[in-house]
Amino acid sequence: MAIPYGRQSVDEDDIAEVVRVLRGDWLTQGPDVAAFEEEFAAACDAPHAVAFSSGTAALHGAAFAAGVGPGDTVVTSAITFAASANCAAYLGATPVFADIDPVTWNVSAETCAAAGAARARAVIPVHFAGLPAPIAEIRAAVGDGAAIIEDAAHAVGAHVDGVPVGSCEHSDMAIFSFHPVKTMTTGEGGMVTTRDPELRDRLIRFRTHGIVAAPDTPGEGGWFQEQHDLGFNYRLTDIQAALGRSQLRKVGGFVTRRNEIAARYREGLGDVDGLVLAPPAPPGSLHAHHLFVVWLEAGADARRALYDRLRAAGVLVQVHYVPVYRHPWYRETYGYAPGLCPDAERYYAGCLSLPCFPALTDAEQDHVIGEIHAALGA
Ligand SMILES: Cc1ncc(COP(=O)(O)O)c(C=O)c1O
Repeated sequence: MAIPYGRQSVDEDDIAEVVRVLRGDWLTQGPDVAAFEEEFAAACDAPHAVAFSSGTAALHGAAFAAGVGPGDTVVTSAITFAASANCAAYLGATPVFADIDPVTWNVSAETCAAAGAARARAVIPVHFAGLPAPIAEIRAAVGDGAAIIEDAAHAVGAHVDGVPVGSCEHSDMAIFSFHPVKTMTTGEGGMVTTRDPELRDRLIRFRTHGIVAAPDTPGEGGWFQEQHDLGFNYRLTDIQAALGRSQLRKVGGFVTRRNEIAARYREGLGDVDGLVLAPPAPPGSLHAHHLFVVWLEAGADARRALYDRLRAAGVLVQVHYVPVYRHPWYRETYGYAPGLCPDAERYYAGCLSLPCFPALTDAEQDHVIGEIHAALGA
């Protein structure tokens, strides 16, 4: 049986929660979404959380709430999923790419500053693979002019010095994804956390067409509503929220298991020459390990050979990510060219994501480790 790089863990409790909603009165956004938002906000130590139909929708909503529009620039990491940058493009702004730090593979205060973050409308640092990015330093470098939206799609359950990612201590908003390969899942789904009640209200409006109830409008009645913004239908369903609430209760266990798997990879692969293992979290912080990435110093040809060999052995490794500016749409739309971010290019040439998910068995992991040893001659 093939071993994927990531996969959800859904058990009978999760299934029972979904069935409970299916037997009830609400299917789309209702009391379970409200409860999920409250529980997720509490888990992040943030006062507000607004659920969305995906992490992509959450990014779109957050960029909208931050006031991103035509003529603006938005800085994000070169090494991320395209959605981190697409949210700026949806709103007519220009995505600009910060290079990664070659050690952490996250953006840094320096690389954000070099990409013009102080002049941007928003900066979207990504907690790549689940390793917390240096948000406090980025805030200090950028000042208060730009909104900071943490892309925490990979980082549900991560902590910095005991403070959960998503608390928004040094940012305006944080977004999360509940896609099945992420730390917890709702099938599709996302969330934005914030400390700012005005941002929360803008997020809520954007999620439902920009329409608000206005029953007290003179001459109108209880039915009356008005559209104030051009929003979307980005609602999460109660079916998904019930799964999310049940999964949220297990996040601590999921993250612990992912860290055990990471530790086992470090033990099993630490002696392989030319193989750099995923940067660990600094002392006091907790890595969510959405991904466990290894990097081959020998570069593109060696990575291609290892990718092909592992895939042939049933290990469905993946590459995260092609630098976003290399995608044809970005090249054609903004004139970006390969080579823009040298450290992102070097990282991309050698990176490979190994299987890392709570249900991965020791035997499966030993198979992955054994194949890598055999391939790289260690
Ligand atoms: C870094 C990052 N941001 C945003 C997203 C978008 O999340 P979703 O797939 O829930 O729309 C993803 C999803 O893969 C991601 O990896």
